[in-house]
Amino acid sequence: MTYPEVRPRRLRRTAALRALVAETRVAPAELVLPLFVREGLSEPRPVGSLPGVVQHSRDSLRKAAAEAVAAGVGGLMLFGVPLRRDPVGSAGSDPGGVLNVAIRDVVAEVGDATVIMSDLCLDEFTDHGHCGVLADDGTVDNDATLARYGELALAQARAGAHVLGLSGMMDGQVGAVRRELDAAGFVDAAILAYAAKYASACYGPFRDAVESTLQGDRKTYQQDPGNRREALREVALDVAEGADIVMVKPALPYLDVVAEVRAAVDVPVAAYQVSGEYAMIEAAAANGWLDRDRMIAETLTSIRRAGAQIILTYWATEAARSLRG
Ligand code: PBG
Repeated sequence: MTYPEVRPRRLRRTAALRALVAETRVAPAELVLPLFVREGLSEPRPVGSLPGVVQHSRDSLRKAAAEAVAAGVGGLMLFGVPLRRDPVGSAGSDPGGVLNVAIRDVVAEVGDATVIMSDLCLDEFTDHGHCGVLADDGTVDNDATLARYGELALAQARAGAHVLGLSGMMDGQVGAVRRELDAAGFVDAAILAYAAKYASACYGPFRDAVESTLQGDRKTYQQDPGNRREALREVALDVAEGADIVMVKPALPYLDVVAEVRAAVDVPVAAYQVSGEYAMIEAAAANGWLDRDRMIAETLTSIRRAGAQIILTYWATEAARSLRG
């Protein structure tokens, strides 16, 4: 045989042929937009390390939520930045706390037109910046934290969140929150478990966005970046405890984990394209070093291809618009 008989290039000849045989598509309904709302703002405030992302005021949050819905975005993930923090993160469970107020505002604005999710964690609310409460020796107290998560869960469910995003990586958090919700009659509030969340350098800009006070790191609760089997163990535990959706985070550096998790469970799998992934591309594009739009499309497609059917991304509204043409 002196020439190739099999020619894969035949199916790449025109845009129409390529579209016909495309294996992976990203739909707006699969994108979730993370949003920050800061207590006491009258105008949105830009986040320096996340160009294009802001800390919202109550008004601008409602507007951003409505725009996302108009673009067809599948969900919103709300994060609150309180004015006052304390050791136990009281503002997180206060019905008048910034996040719980924001949930009510967004529910009033868009209702069931999209999926309203809320971050269920203590790090934005504690003065020490850890995702849990501390024991006397300064370590993060797992079981005391679970009790606080239960209180946050009730506050968020009462505010009307459809899905609670448990991002603290405490052992038993899904089961503890599920029991608390069910006992209070919130049997339909769903749980998205940040099941495999790595102790990643990619969260740097997020910590600016929430004005994190953390000293040190989260290595005693978030996963070691080298561990893949451990992710499957975490995911299996969360599914057994009642997680409705499991998430891997960050996304792009952990696509192998996304693929393995997809193969291992039958609940929907999400991935979070985190702040550092966003910032890397924005910074390189601002320098003219990368084609921004193609990078956004390619990274989202890659995360989808690896097996995540839900993608949290700060580009959600823009990407949804461009996907709709
Ligand atoms: C913790 C939380 C973090 C992120 C989402 N939830 C930060 C952390 O674990 O330090 C990071 C998201 C991002 O970087 O975009 N509640």
